[in-house]
Amino acid sequence: MTKNPMRRKNPQKKSTQHALHNLHNSRPIIVDIIDLSRGGAGFGRDENGRATFVPFTMPGDKVKVKLTTAKSKYAEGNLLDIIEPSSKRVDAPCKAFTKCGGCQWQHIPYDTQWETKKQGVINSLSLNNIKLPAAIEGFPAESTWHYRNRVQLRGYKDEIGFYANQSNTLVAIEQCEIAHANINSTLSSVKEKGKEFKKPYKVELNLLLDGTVAETWNDEHASSGFRQVNDDQNEKLKAWISELIPDNQPLLDLYGGAGNLSIPLMDRVPEIHCVDSSTPENEQPAAHFHYHRAAVEPWLQQQTANGKIKQQGPWTALIDPPRDGLGKTGETIVQYLKQLNVTAVVLVGCKTDPWSRDIAHFIEQGWKLKKVAVLDFFPQTYHVESAAFLIR
Ligand SMILES: C[S@@+](CC[C@H](N)C(=O)[O-])C[C@H]1O[C@@H](n2cnc3c(N)ncnc32)[C@H](O)[C@@H]1O
Repeated sequence: MTKNPMRRKNPQKKSTQHALHNLHNSRPIIVDIIDLSRGGAGFGRDENGRATFVPFTMPGDKVKVKLTTAKSKYAEGNLLDIIEPSSKRVDAPCKAFTKCGGCQWQHIPYDTQWETKKQGVINSLSLNNIKLPAAIEGFPAESTWHYRNRVQLRGYKDEIGFYANQSNTLVAIEQCEIAHANINSTLSSVKEKGKEFKKPYKVELNLLLDGTVAETWNDEHASSGFRQVNDDQNEKLKAWISELIPDNQPLLDLYGGAGNLSIPLMDRVPEIHCVDSSTPENEQPAAHFHYHRAAVEPWLQQQTANGKIKQQGPWTALIDPPRDGLGKTGETIVQYLKQLNVTAVVLVGCKTDPWSRDIAHFIEQGWKLKKVAVLDFFPQTYHVESAAFLIR
């Protein structure tokens, strides 16, 4: 009898199921947490010396862990119990902490959060074989709570809150400890309005400059345009950039949004081109400021082929891509910048490893890294903003 090939089990699937079954039945292990990873989890070693990552722990904790992933080089697990807490642990003020997908580090004192983030940036650059500049400038946050000017909430019936980490499970909140106070004060009325929907809903709350809060219902994230979430830290980033931008050299603001980073430079540079897939419509802050609603890579390609930009250099470029950085387009974008005679670049990133890899593309093509700034836009989370100044 010929076996039906469709009935043969995928051996990989079988081994994955087997491994999951083994994990499910495995006994909890004890781990001494010695460090924090760039991804936010505490890090220790199991009895075989294997790196083990455990969210919501910190250096100095001895913890009981249920493994969820076990590979030959590393393992991940869920915190079951804190056997001995680190002497530095602090109480998390938020009742939803560890359930809500927003904050990972409320149990860690802010100075440890900050030092870990700064060191994480240094480690990431070193892992990409990037020679560190003489000084890495650090800008920790002064307001470590209630700093966010924008949040995206989910709700249904009597509950409003956030999704749990990597899931669509709603974690209800009464207030968010990192959202601005004015956002929190609207929550109960927003929840009442949300009850009108017969289905789960999404609402984005955006703190406006006059202190009022705008509501956007059931639309994409940042549907009215991207905005940096931490106003105080955004001011520091703009000031850092401003010191570096050469006067009298025209400027490309790539992934520029509404021009947050380039509008403050308007009086100092002769021309600005702000390129973003969602620039504002029908608005132009000045005659020499031009919005281009376009994807950056094809726009640059077009400019290298027949655009006016080519004749007007040398240029400075601000580059502030979304979370995953320039990605596959990195190498090509760096080539286009050279063809367009860009000689100075500020590269901003909100996810450290992609940002470091993007810097490596520049260095591979002959650029020199002159300065780095680390700015904490996101206290109580492992996320961090960084900026690099490169010249050629
Ligand atoms: C981190 S935000 C930076 C925005 C701006 N620099 C600021 O400080 O407000 C990234 C921006 O990239 C834009 N974007 C994402 N992918 C893009 C692409 N392929 N081409 C052009 N813009 C893109 C988004 O619309 C968003 O405004």
